Amino acid sequence: MARLKRACVLTLLASLVAGQNAITTTGTKFSLNAAGMSYMFHVDTESGDLVSDHFGGPAADFTPPAVPWSSGWNDELANVRREFPDFGRSDPRLPAIHIEHAAGDTVSAFRYQSHNITQGKQPLPGLPATYGGASNVTTLIIHLHDNVSDVSAALSYSVFPEYNAIARSFTITNHGASDSSRNGTNNGSGAIVIERAASFSADFPNMELEMIEPYGDWSHEFNTVRRKVDYGRTSFGSQAGYASHVHNPFFALVSPTTTEGSGDAWGFSLVWTGSFEATTEKFSNGFTRILMGMNSLHSSIRVQPGETFQSPEAVAIYSSEGIGGVSRSFHDLYRDHLSRHKATKETRPILLNSWEGLAFNINETSLVNLAGEAEEIGIELFVMDDGWFGVEYPRNNDSLGLGDWTPNPAHFPDGLGPYVEEVTNLTVLNSTSKMQFGIWVEPEMVNPNSTLYNEHPDWVLHTGKHQRTLTRNQLVLNVGLPEVQEFIINFVSRILDSANIQYVKWDNNRAMHEMMHPSDDYKYILGLYHVIDTLTTRYPNVLWEGCASGGGRFDPGLLYYWPQHWTSDNTDASDRLTIQMGTSLVYPPSSMGCHISAVPNGSTGRNISIMYRAHVAMTCGSFGLELNPEELSTTEADAIPSIMAEARRVNPIVIGGDFYRLAHPASSNWPAVQFVSANGTQAVVFAFQQFMQVKPVPPPLKFAGLDPSARYSNDLDNATYSGSTYMNGGLNIPFPRRDYQSKMIWLTKM
Ligand SMILES: *[C@@H]1O[C@H](CO)[C@@H](O)[C@H](O)[C@H]1NC(C)=O
Ligand SMILES: *[C@@H]1O[C@H](CO)[C@@H](O)[C@H](O)[C@H]1NC(C)=O
Ligand SMILES: *[C@@H]1O[C@H](CO)[C@@H](O)[C@H](O)[C@H]1NC(C)=O
Ligand SMILES: *[C@@H]1O[C@H](CO)[C@@H](O)[C@H](O)[C@H]1NC(C)=O
Ligand SMILES: *[C@@H]1O[C@H](CO)[C@@H](O)[C@H](O)[C@H]1NC(C)=O
Ligand SMILES: *[C@@H]1O[C@H](CO)[C@@H](O)[C@H](O)[C@H]1NC(C)=O
Ligand SMILES: *[C@@H]1O[C@H](CO)[C@@H](O)[C@H](O)[C@H]1NC(C)=O
Ligand SMILES: *[C@@H]1O[C@H](CO)[C@@H](O)[C@H](O)[C@H]1NC(C)=O
Ligand SMILES: *[C@@H]1O[C@H](CO)[C@@H](O)[C@H](O)[C@H]1NC(C)=O
Ligand SMILES: *[C@@H]1O[C@H](CO)[C@@H](O)[C@H](O)[C@H]1NC(C)=O
Ligand SMILES: *[C@@H]1O[C@H](CO)[C@@H](O)[C@H](O)[C@H]1NC(C)=O
Ligand SMILES: *[C@@H]1O[C@H](CO)[C@@H](O)[C@H](O)[C@H]1NC(C)=O
Repeated sequence: MARLKRACVLTLLASLVAGQNAITTTGTKFSLNAAGMSYMFHVDTESGDLVSDHFGGPAADFTPPAVPWSSGWNDELANVRREFPDFGRSDPRLPAIHIEHAAGDTVSAFRYQSHNITQGKQPLPGLPATYGGASNVTTLIIHLHDNVSDVSAALSYSVFPEYNAIARSFTITNHGASDSSRNGTNNGSGAIVIERAASFSADFPNMELEMIEPYGDWSHEFNTVRRKVDYGRTSFGSQAGYASHVHNPFFALVSPTTTEGSGDAWGFSLVWTGSFEATTEKFSNGFTRILMGMNSLHSSIRVQPGETFQSPEAVAIYSSEGIGGVSRSFHDLYRDHLSRHKATKETRPILLNSWEGLAFNINETSLVNLAGEAEEIGIELFVMDDGWFGVEYPRNNDSLGLGDWTPNPAHFPDGLGPYVEEVTNLTVLNSTSKMQFGIWVEPEMVNPNSTLYNEHPDWVLHTGKHQRTLTRNQLVLNVGLPEVQEFIINFVSRILDSANIQYVKWDNNRAMHEMMHPSDDYKYILGLYHVIDTLTTRYPNVLWEGCASGGGRFDPGLLYYWPQHWTSDNTDASDRLTIQMGTSLVYPPSSMGCHISAVPNGSTGRNISIMYRAHVAMTCGSFGLELNPEELSTTEADAIPSIMAEARRVNPIVIGGDFYRLAHPASSNWPAVQFVSANGTQAVVFAFQQFMQVKPVPPPLKFAGLDPSARYSNDLDNATYSGSTYMNGGLNIPFPRRDYQSKMIWLTKM
């Protein structure tokens, strides 16, 4: 197994896997241990505060903390590395937890009360989270109490020893009885308000750090920036109600010398679909605090006496093997212990989507024709995109019909049943399987031009007073409302019951704006999880793909329910290399949807060869075509049979293998990626040439992840070399003298 190879100390690992030493305690000193990572903190016995000691490579002992010569302007807690920083005492940094108490003040003093260690991990009620059994994960819960306001916190740490991963979340319980003698803004109801809840926080010692964070936009997702963590705060996040295209709830910290393949690296990922906030704050003593959690502008969550708030979960991973090491641990953890859908580890059908070929011009006849063409080239799953619904407001363009999920009778006179049967009666080329059918929906949205909106104008997010901002002519349904949840569950079930539908593309094409209350985002996302949990449980055999104008909602929360996400609306293969490599920082390539589209490309106008487009798309778990096969050139059509065969051959290693970014397009004209099969017997390299260059020659391409002493044959020069030769010497790839060339190279262990 890939993750076993990373463990240097196999005996240590064996005892960790059995859960014996994953969490050790000496009094109230806690060590969370993994194969290549330790995470340590303790209780200050005088104050009851939690103090951080270490997060990094394996360490065995607790050592005295750094003490500044002078505390300067700052008192006590300012110079402490705090494990669960609360607000209002002597710590001037941003807190992980900020509560407005029933009495109106915002001062908290959470002090240790007790702890509990158990094998395994409990689910988070109503929220997606990593999971695992007794032999996969060990959980420590620290119970804290603020005796002034009678609020308690339960801080939960789950260690996955094989993945160098820690999942953290917490609950806040308001024990205060309703008390009219307390006159805060909570006016005697006894409620408290959660103003900030960072699921993960860590205080690093004084050291040089850099952060790597995603940024981008529509059609430009997951570019990355690497910059120095300097004094003061650096923050990014989303107020869109979802992760959005602009950032993603992930960042890495690295040492200045860390590379793709070596050096200290930490990754932080939030299992949450709503607005989020990620912050680093370097203080005068050099300590760096990191915070990862919900966005504080979309919090203000009221917790009544007797109620408990559950934070989302965040996952932190450490690797001494650079950024690539962090990525591979996330890929393994998220495939093994987050994405619960049964298709997660299965090869995916090759699909053809109607959108780029037909757009809104769909009806029974045009789709059956397209499916017939799809049949001829070996497509396994035929997907009908937007445009199929609407009775009073037929969905002929994006200004009407959204929300009215009844097939348009003008285009589907007999509904979906017989037409879908016609498609699913087709036989996949060179196979005995039948073609599968998939459908597009955008359940959380409504056009004002719709029957749904006429009947339920109050179902959308709005404040009552402000104008309802339209984006793409549509408004957002308030999925926090139980009646909206019921509506979505019912109509999606009705569609899936009406025909033999095996795939659903669940789109979401705009951000949330006018909200009645900041906590509406939190309620919305919990409602959305309820809807998706119900539907994925009711239809476990349906393959669900998330989409949000591309990668706008590619997040670990949805990955828990759905095995794949559309990566970007930009299908230009050259741009896609950057987008896909960025996305792979945290999400496994097996979870990405990537298609070959027509040229010249709709976004960039580039004319890239069909093999290059195919090779880029094949490096993702869900491979497909998004074009009209009738419009392929002869050269393209001739290449299709071999592309289909190669895509089928590659898919198992993409779904289950280890992924390596060998060279990045931002720093090389010859970017490349590699997969190694989980059993180590096979590897495949995809090498690309962006531009033909007269000089210099391409550098030898150095492979990764091989056994240095084993020998591997390759199908480039048909020779056999040692793993060390491929990794340290590299191979020279003979690219043709043209732009946008690609090679796929298979290695087989002898
Ligand atoms: C520890 O957790 C387990 C499992 O939730 C529970 O059964 C047990 O009572 C807890 N022990 C303490 C001391 O809280
Ligand atoms: C988790 O542990 C169970 C036994 O408790 C084992 O069967 C399973 O393979 C483990 N899962 C992974 C992904 O290692
Ligand atoms: C709260 O706890 C602190 C520290 O343990 C203690 O000094 C104080 O007396 C307690 N206050 C109340 C109201 O119980
Ligand atoms: C709260 O308000 C009430 C009514 O205005 C007042 O009688 C009471 O003294 C106030 N309590 C505190 C603790 O300020
Ligand atoms: C206190 O505030 C809440 C929320 O704004 C409101 O629902 C409630 O009626 C108020 N209670 C009193 C006693 O004013
Ligand atoms: C179906 O769509 C095609 C292509 O847009 C069009 O030529 C044809 O007339 C349509 N047929 C019906 C019945 O609407
Ligand atoms: C959208 O379709 C409707 C109904 O077919 C039509 O009246 C309208 O002109 C179309 N709008 C655009 C922008 O094409
Ligand atoms: C409603 O549809 C009409 C016709 O397509 C269009 O002109 C109008 O802009 C639409 N209104 C909204 C709010 O989208
Ligand atoms: C699908 O195939 C079955 C079995 O051959 C046949 O009975 C049925 O009529 C076909 N349906 C359609 C819509 O072609
Ligand atoms: C299907 O099989 C035929 C004959 O065996 C072969 O020529 C063709 O390339 C195959 N097509 C695909 C897409 O595999
Ligand atoms: C190893 O994994 C690859 C890719 O999944 C598979 O094709 C191959 O058959 C496996 N080999 C062995 C010996 O299990
Ligand atoms: C390698 O072997 C394959 C299959 O036998 C052959 O098609 C190819 O031309 C050979 N390549 C070289 C560089 O010899």
